[in-house]
Amino acid sequence: MLLDSTTGYNLELLEKRGVHYYPSLGSTNVELRRLAEEGAPEGAVVLADSQSAGRGRRGRTWHSPPGKGLYFSLLLRPQQIGTAAAAALTLVAAVSTARLLRESSGAAVTIKWPNDLLVNTKKLGGILTEAKSEGTMLRYLLLGIGLNLNHEIDDFPVELRGRATSLALEYGHTLERTPFFLSLRENLLEDCRLFFKKGFAPFRQPWKEMSSSLGRIIAVALPGRTLRGKAVDIDTAGALLIEDERGECHRILCGEII
Ligand code: BTN
Repeated sequence: MLLDSTTGYNLELLEKRGVHYYPSLGSTNVELRRLAEEGAPEGAVVLADSQSAGRGRRGRTWHSPPGKGLYFSLLLRPQQIGTAAAAALTLVAAVSTARLLRESSGAAVTIKWPNDLLVNTKKLGGILTEAKSEGTMLRYLLLGIGLNLNHEIDDFPVELRGRATSLALEYGHTLERTPFFLSLRENLLEDCRLFFKKGFAPFRQPWKEMSSSLGRIIAVALPGRTLRGKAVDIDTAGALLIEDERGECHRILCGEII
């Protein structure tokens, strides 16, 4: 068994499973996009021990120090799926990831709509879905996932310490990254394929059970305005239903809780 002496990743196993592994990379999403353009098949995955330019949503950066977290991107090539599905796919990936984290570490992970994974109200992980479309149809999707697993407090920059956390910080134990990553990749592929066949319906109930957003008064940043109201439900298409103070219901497919 060839274990990388600095990172602990099992390189032999990663290679056997066809993982494109890099000790360090700018961004796994950027590298996977390059491979996708070269014709890489569905399921292709880029994993990095650290990223120097990890990307978050809305142009933010994703802090990705070596030896601590999980940073990877998975390629999906749906057939005959419209671009509107990309937003719901992020919710499916959140369900899949939160479920496995709960099963493998016992962590009480919740999902903050649409793409944040939280423990004790702090951010444990995030998902960045990027799509390439042709007209109204999706050509491919890049599912980029970043998880804070084994970080100590000093591994986070000072400005993140109040908002971010890791499994190690919350529960005092570390998670072996190779087996966890390989199981997560398998679960994600299976769940995404189920979503492409059956839509969001099979994921609605688990999403609701793990949601930290439902029942709360929230403010959602939308293009050019902020919507305030109570998050009352999620529908079968994965849209968040928000009731404003006048009792009017708004159906929101993408945005960000602020
Ligand atoms: C967010 O919450 O803003 C989404 C963060 C997504 C970060 C991951 S880390 C692996 C993949 N590569 C990137 O550059 N970003 C995503």
